[in-house]
Amino acid sequence: MPKPIRHGDDSRLEISVINDLWYKNAVIYCLSVATFMDSDGDGVGDFKGLMKRLDYLQGLGITALWLMPFQPSPGRDGGYDITDYYNVDPQYGTLGDFVEFAHACKQRGIRVLIDLVVNHTSDQHPWFRDARRSSNSKYRDWYVWSKKLPKHSKDGVVFPGVQRSTWTRDEVSKLWYFHRFYEFQPDLNTSNPEVQAEILKIIGFWIQLGVSGFRMDAVPFVIATKGPEVAQPKERYEMLRELREFLSWRQGDAIFLAEANVLPDTDLEYFGRDGERLHTMFNFQANQALFYALATADSRPLVKALTATKPRPATAQWGQFLRNHDELDLGRLTDRQRQAVFNAFAPNPDMHLYGRGIRRRLAPMLNGDRRRLELSYSLMMTLPGTPVIRYGDEIGMGDDLSLPERQCARTPMQWSSEPHGGFSTNKRCIVKVISGGAYGYEQVNVAEQRRDTNSLLNWMERIIRMRKEVPEIGWGDFEVLETGKSDVLAIRYDWRGNSVLTVHNLSAKPCEVTLNVGVQGRDCIDLVNLLSTDHSTSDRSGDHRILLEPYGYRWYRVGGLGNIMNQSAV
Ligand code: NOJ
Repeated sequence: MPKPIRHGDDSRLEISVINDLWYKNAVIYCLSVATFMDSDGDGVGDFKGLMKRLDYLQGLGITALWLMPFQPSPGRDGGYDITDYYNVDPQYGTLGDFVEFAHACKQRGIRVLIDLVVNHTSDQHPWFRDARRSSNSKYRDWYVWSKKLPKHSKDGVVFPGVQRSTWTRDEVSKLWYFHRFYEFQPDLNTSNPEVQAEILKIIGFWIQLGVSGFRMDAVPFVIATKGPEVAQPKERYEMLRELREFLSWRQGDAIFLAEANVLPDTDLEYFGRDGERLHTMFNFQANQALFYALATADSRPLVKALTATKPRPATAQWGQFLRNHDELDLGRLTDRQRQAVFNAFAPNPDMHLYGRGIRRRLAPMLNGDRRRLELSYSLMMTLPGTPVIRYGDEIGMGDDLSLPERQCARTPMQWSSEPHGGFSTNKRCIVKVISGGAYGYEQVNVAEQRRDTNSLLNWMERIIRMRKEVPEIGWGDFEVLETGKSDVLAIRYDWRGNSVLTVHNLSAKPCEVTLNVGVQGRDCIDLVNLLSTDHSTSDRSGDHRILLEPYGYRWYRVGGLGNIMNQSAV
């Protein structure tokens, strides 16, 4: 048997798969239709509005969109409480609008990923309403019930402080039902073959309408055993292969991007040892260590996280991100480390959430400091994997802490200094647009930043462009280089005879590092700066002396000036 191919060792992959495995060098942008652009003035974003902004997104350079749930929903958990998997919430448009949108994306070379929320439904879903009505219901066994309150009902609560239990009494059926999340989100019984078949049908439906894959919600819970007797849920990883197989039959280049905040020793269970399960997972391990690094200028836990998450099959990919629509979950850090991040980025208790995280947006966490914003984005985009950007972060949008829980970081996109940020003409918006102060739409908006060549938006456009031209990061193997300083992180990527070096100074002080790039067989190695003209040539011993300003960062390609482009990407 040939040995399974590992990431970074793709010499046995045919050259053409570089294009097939598009997610290995993609730039993903996440948005919610509800808060992106309102076309009809009802105060709610919609597909027609989003379509008007596709040229903006194409110009920004992103290659894939991830849409948060837009299916019919009472909207009690940002749409993650669905009542119909086969439709579009009328507030956002129709299925016809979705298809038009999918087509418009295709014309621009932008792929569409949508959320697949199948761990649970809304309690208003017709399946659940039917299931609770009668023990003879076809749907009774689609959910997870108990006659008595189970012993472990207080365990595994996902939203501590808000959610009290994982079991709630249903007065209609006179039974208790299981809900991993809020009580209005009853868990589907995912071991029921009928439920499994329905999940495949949902996947098939949206694939047929033009999506390139799914951001799969709450994967560890989808595959976990559930029931009143289950004290320690067990993951049924094989389900992932079955889902993958079906997805690939329907569309070969479609992917799963998994939300699975798990420990590194189970990563290969999720990817599959031969890459036969999930294509991509968010790297929560690196995300938390990244924020620790930004807060303390100590890169060591980040290096540890990168090393721990290094093993993966050749076709698998990490999704690297800074903030998303949820709280910044710091639950995997030690208490001391978490406290250090709280101290730096969330000094007030109302900035914390669920006892483990921070509910703020990135820019206010960094006090709007442009140098730190660039450093954070540069770092995130050069971690092994594919970057995932949250809408509004490209212009440094802020948060509204007067809104409850995670809502505070889900305010409408700020397009211009027109009323309501140009998001809507209606003064009653689905969520209040941030107005006034340093992050109000009057100050922070797309239109202003477009005109300003030095804006964060224009910087973001350039860095995204460069990130796409450095496939070594998405495809290559990496090595963390010795810098002798824990506040400077240097990573070299190697792929198909090309090498790229990225260097980040996490600290507020300037510094000089001596680096040996460690590429064998070359005496004097040039480092070509990909972002400025500040190149570097090594001394006779092969060392480079690199001077970094506070929060400075460098992207170099190893080799002569002519080597500005990767030589082997096709
Ligand atoms: C994870 C989603 O990211 C989050 O927003 C949601 O509340 C839960 N899953 C429940 O669907």
